Order: sequence, then structure tokens, then C-alpha cells
Amino acid sequence: MSAIEIKAVGKSFGKTEVLRGISLSIHSGEFVAVLGPSGCGKTTLLRALAGFEPVDRGTIHIGNALLSGEGNHIPPEERGIGVVFQSYALWPHMSVAGNVSYGLRVKGIARKEREARTAKVLELVGLSEFAERRPAALSGGQRQRVALARCLAMDAGVVLLDEPLANLDVHLRGEMEEEFSRFHRESRATMFYITHDQSEALALADRVAVMDRGMISQFASPAELYSRPANEMVATFIGEGQLGAIEDFQPDRSGFGFARFFGEPVRLRCHPSAIARSSARVTFHPGDLRLTETGGIAATIRRITYRGDILRVELSAGPHHQTLFMNVPAPACIESGQRVAVTLADGWVLPDLTPEETLV
Ligand SMILES: Nc1ncnc2c1ncn2[C@@H]1O[C@H](COP(=O)(O)OP(=O)(O)OP(=O)(O)O)[C@@H](O)[C@H]1O
Ligand SMILES: [Mg+2]
Repeated sequence: MSAIEIKAVGKSFGKTEVLRGISLSIHSGEFVAVLGPSGCGKTTLLRALAGFEPVDRGTIHIGNALLSGEGNHIPPEERGIGVVFQSYALWPHMSVAGNVSYGLRVKGIARKEREARTAKVLELVGLSEFAERRPAALSGGQRQRVALARCLAMDAGVVLLDEPLANLDVHLRGEMEEEFSRFHRESRATMFYITHDQSEALALADRVAVMDRGMISQFASPAELYSRPANEMVATFIGEGQLGAIEDFQPDRSGFGFARFFGEPVRLRCHPSAIARSSARVTFHPGDLRLTETGGIAATIRRITYRGDILRVELSAGPHHQTLFMNVPAPACIESGQRVAVTLADGWVLPDLTPEETLV
């Protein structure tokens, strides 16, 4: 049984359809990230799950309980869901311990147990020594940890987080990513984590739901999204994916196929049920292009950007001067304006949208 079952959920604001038939089955204890461009409906989906927003169509279940849909709407406080907002939403007039134990008090939990649970979760997030401080006297990362501790204290089986790291600097983000992983391991809660930062989503989540204009483009593991994107949007949204046109695509039913890319023969990965096509699209990453001494695609180096262990090379390839990006291990003896030859070492042929090839 799924911890969270979202079925064909639709939601409109006025005439704008913001959620368009969202379906997701999330396992108990799973860490799911929802990734998508600004305005695609991520927060609206989280608010629908939390119960702040009734749905127009479809249903939301947690376990066997119907929370939203078919004329039902269970209010947020009865859903047993913890929510961590981007803005932390801490009470400024309460101490750290007061903020953490407030929900327990509302729930009617006796003082002794409240104090014991608060002390335990503050220790877990490394804030024991700050228990009596006010939120104003904490750093952004520490405030975020208070918000997490509050969730942890409530022992919520499902925790929703809306861009919890968006306000933090890069260094703190890294630390907090660790914190979320630890929180997940120790609480074994089902996590629903919204972000528009793909590195955060790929680093943290068991599975990532990529959202686009109110729909789910693909719901899969980070590795699957990276190497087998379901469509153009996912391909270009994840891992600096690039697109190219291929010709004479001949799949062999084992998940590989031959084609021509800039006129050169290439062997590519594809869906086992992919069908032969005179033209198709391939997606690949900058690391999939390699310099070669023999044959290959003729290209000119337009620009080289130093990135530490690699050089990011911008190429102009083929008669139409198509832009390609390639990674070359640094140091390398190349320069702008140089004519080079490259090969495509790996690529994924985007599924034609036949039912057999639908990966979602
Ligand atoms: N209460 C509302 N009334 C009207 N329109 C709304 C309301 N809430 C959200 N919208 C619209 O719904 C769309 C989706 O908004 P939502 O906040 O879910 O996006 P998001 O994916 O969370 O974006 P971001 O990454 O910028 O936070 C937007 O076009 C937004 O303007
Ligand atoms: Mg949002």
C-alpha cells in the first residue's frame, strides 16, 4: 500500500488550470522530490496534500484514509502531516524549545513528556544549547533546524517541505542537505520535498517527480531521469542535457540502436520497444562528447570555460553551426578557434510517444 496516493488531481484558480491530472503513488518512508520550473504548480500540489487547498477533481489518500476529493476535505490539523515552509514560520515571541513543544501542547500531551520529546529532537538537530534562545537570535540554518525539530517532535508520518533551503547560502545548503538525509533516516517519515534546484532533488530523493505546467512529466529515480528521460522537457531540465537530431534510427530490440548523428554512425541506447524511424531525437550530456583523432564530427571550438577538473567546451558543429557543449578533462591542449573532431560516446533516443515507450 502506498503512503500517499494522489489520483488524477485537478485544481484551477479562476480559469487557470494549475494542476492538470496529477497522479503519484508514493511509498511509505520514501523521499520524493518534486522538481519543476517556477509557476508549474509545485506549491499548489503541496498545499492540496497538506489540506490548505481543496481539490477540484481527483482524490488524495494517505494509507486507507481519503483526505481530499469526492466531496471530502479533511482539515490540515487532522491529516497527521508535518509541513516545513520556506519561511520557517516560527513564533518570534517563543524560545526555540517553546516553538518545538507548542504543537505538542496543543495536542494535549502532558508537560513531562513534552519536555522529554523536545529535548530529544533538539539534540537530534544539534540545537540543545540553543533551547532558550529566540528565533531572531539564530542563523537561517539554525531556524530551519528548529522548523525540522518541530516536525520531528510531532512524529508526523508524512512531512512536506516547500523549498526549505531557498533562503540559505550555498555552504549552508550543503550542510542542511545532510541534515534532511539524517532526519529522513532517523524518522523514517515519508518526505515530499519541493525544490526547483535539480542538484538538491537528485542528491536527496529516492524518486523525483518532474513537473511541467501542472502535469507530471516523469516520476523516476535520479539515475533514470538522468539517463532515460521520458521527454524533451525532462531531458533538457536535468544534468545540462542537450538535444540532437539523428537519422536512420535502427533499434535492435535489446535497448540499443544504430543511427547517424551529423552523418556519422553512432550506437545509442533506446527503449527496448522503440521502432525504426527515419528521424528521431537523441539526448546526451556534455560528458558524452569526446575528442577523437580519427573520423568523427567536424567542429570548431567557440569558447572554453575553466571549471577546475574539467574544461567546458562550446562547439559549433555541422553545416548549420549547431551549438554543442562538451567536457574535456583538464588540463588539455585546446584553444578557441581550433578545428576538432568529436564522437558521441553515449546518448538516449527520446521515446516517440507510443504507449509501449511511455516511461512514466
Ligand atoms: N491562490 C491563488 N490564486 C490564483 N492563482 C494562484 C494561486 N496560487 C497559485 N496561483 C497560480 O498558480 C500557478 C502555480 O503556482 P505555484 O505557487 O503552485 O507554483 P510553484 O511551482 O510553486 O512556483 P515557484 O517555484 O515559483 O514557487 C501560478 O501561475 C500562480 O500564479
Ligand atoms: Mg512554490
